[in-house]
Parts: sequence; C-alpha cells; structure tokens
Amino acid sequence: MIGPVLGIESSCDETGVAVYEPGRGLLAHALYSQIKLHAEYGGVVPELASRDHVRKLLPLLHQTLGDAGLKVSDLSAVAYTAGPGLIGALLVGASVARSLAWALEVPAIGIHHMEGHLLAPLLEEPAPGTEPLVPPFVALLVSGGHSLLVGVDRIGSYTILGDTLDDAAGEAFDKTAKLLGLPYPGGPALAKLAETGDPKAFHFSRPMTDRPGLDMSFSGLKTQVLLAWRDCDKANSTRASIARGFEEAIVETLAVKCRRALAATGYQRLVVSGGVGANQRLRAQLAAAGQREGFQTYFPRLAFCTDNGAMIALAGSIRLAAGQHTGPEIRVQPRWDLQSLPEVA
Ligand code: KG4
Ligand code: ZN
Repeated sequence: MIGPVLGIESSCDETGVAVYEPGRGLLAHALYSQIKLHAEYGGVVPELASRDHVRKLLPLLHQTLGDAGLKVSDLSAVAYTAGPGLIGALLVGASVARSLAWALEVPAIGIHHMEGHLLAPLLEEPAPGTEPLVPPFVALLVSGGHSLLVGVDRIGSYTILGDTLDDAAGEAFDKTAKLLGLPYPGGPALAKLAETGDPKAFHFSRPMTDRPGLDMSFSGLKTQVLLAWRDCDKANSTRASIARGFEEAIVETLAVKCRRALAATGYQRLVVSGGVGANQRLRAQLAAAGQREGFQTYFPRLAFCTDNGAMIALAGSIRLAAGQHTGPEIRVQPRWDLQSLPEVA
C-alpha cells in the first residue's frame, strides 16, 4: 500500500495542489485560480499563466501539507499534470514535481489531465442507492479545451467515441458569454444569467443531433446567438432569454450524445466531468434521464469538475499502485492522445 501522494495541476489557469492517500482518501487540497489575472484580456494569456504558477505553487504546497498535517518527507510519491495544456504552464508543475520527487527519492508520475477529469468522481462517496463507480462506463468530458465522449473499458483503456469538430463546449460558453457582454470565464456567468431567461423565447439548433454519430460541433450556435443578439431590443430580460436558449441547446445536445454513447456501448454508467460538468442544468437533465432510462450518473463535486490537484493526486495514486511511474527527465506533452495511455493492470 502506498502512502500519501502529492498531486500538482498547472495545465492552464488554475494552480491546484492536493494530497491523496489510498485507503484514507483526500487529505487536503488547495487551489489558486488566476481568473482575475486573465479577465482583462478576455482569455488566458499563456506567459502570464506560467509566471503566476511559479509564484503560487510553493506557497500552495506549503499550505496543503500543513492542512494535511504532513511533512514533505511523509510523501510517498508525486503526481503532476504532464499534458495536454499550455506548455509553459505544464513545465512549471512538472519541474517542481519532478525535482521534489528526485530530492525525496520517491517516484514521480506524469498524469494526463483528461484522465484526471475522468477519474474525479472517484473522489466522492457514491450517492445513496448508487453502486460504486467501476468500469465499464462512458465519460462525457466537457471543459474549456475539450468535448469528449470516452468509452472506458478499464482504467487506462480509453476509446474516444466522439469529439468536437470545432469549439469545445466550455469554449462555446465562454465565446457566447463574451458576445453577450458577460465577464470571463463566461460559463458560470452565462448559466447564472440564463436562470432568469424565458426558455421559450429563443430556440437554437441542437447541432449534429439530426444525423447518426457521436461527434459534436458548437461553433454554429455562437453565430446563431450573434444574430439573435444583433437583432434584439438589447433589454436585460432578452439577454437572459438568449442565454437560456443557448444553454438549453448545449445541454440537450450533450444529453442526446451521452444517451447515444450509452446505447452504442451497452454500458450503464455515465461519468460527467470537466468545467462544464459543473453546469446545474446539464447535471439535472442527465440525472433525470438516468432515472428514466436506467443508467447511473456520476459527477464530481462542483469544485472538482473544474481543474484541481485532487484529481491528479487520485489518478497518480491509482497508477503508482499499479507500479507505474515516470523516468527522471522533465517531460510534458502539450498535445497528448488519451487513447495512447497504458492500461492500469
Ligand atoms: O476543466 P476546466 O476548469 O478547464 C479546462 O481544462 O478547460 O473548464 C473550464 C471551462 C470554462 O470554459 C468555463 O466557462 C466552463 O468550464 N464552466 C462552465 C460552468 N463552470 C465552468 N460552463 C457552463 N456552466 C458552468 N456552470
Ligand atoms: Zn480541465
């Protein structure tokens, strides 16, 4: 049995640090979000992101170990996000993690960021009446950079069933929010505005649901919103209704694709994770569909839908327990195919 595993996440604009111990669970986690830093630019500025990870990572590490009541020498391994993501940002986490592991003479392991998202529901106790999450299952991974439907036969054995042909779901939320004059990051702001909108006022298309297949496309929706916004009275209530129409279109499209993926694989469990997995309408719609149609749904808590160190510490501990670790070099992969990962025996 391995002891406490440190997890470090720095692939984009959140610095996340956590300690997870198999058998004991999550011992502590801390997160620093750079949202304010990037807000005035309307999106993540890679160079600023790297510099801020450099500034924040060691203080967060200190805080997390303190919260867990551990000394650095208590760590039995170090896991870090090795990709995909922004290369400079990834290098900050990888350099700190690899050097720390080297100094402590413990193993280090580079984790695929999307595998972190995919396994994040395992950080939670199963909801009452729900079986524990075990493969096989389908995972919908929807974030700012990805919209993937993944078939999970076993941990580490992943098949991409569907992908976006253009914008990721979170990117579509962010760009549409910007069009409507909402602050960055747009997803949560748009979802909040949509709460007061009239669901019947605007109907946008459900892209690629009228033909077979599991791929997705969200960039056309943005254009539909642009036209609706251009031609409307610009009242706040109209803006809310456009936001509502857009959110309903994305949520329904994702729900259709999830149900298709479950039907195609014959699996009966669905994981929903990644930043857009924090969307309440998406969670409610999929949970209701699951109850109606007999599949079980698994969501991480809201804080672990978006980027965090806990999912990296967890994924690291699973791979380390299977005897896997990374060599002494500091290597990151800004692009990295999830399907190329080794299976966890
Ligand atoms: O997983 P994540 O933190 O970072 C990436 O790996 O990309 O996801 C961030 C994305 C952003 O596009 C953000 O707007 C979106 O997730 N997001 C949401 C919500 N919360 C975050 N989108 C819709 N509804 C939300 N409640
Ligand atoms: Zn992410």
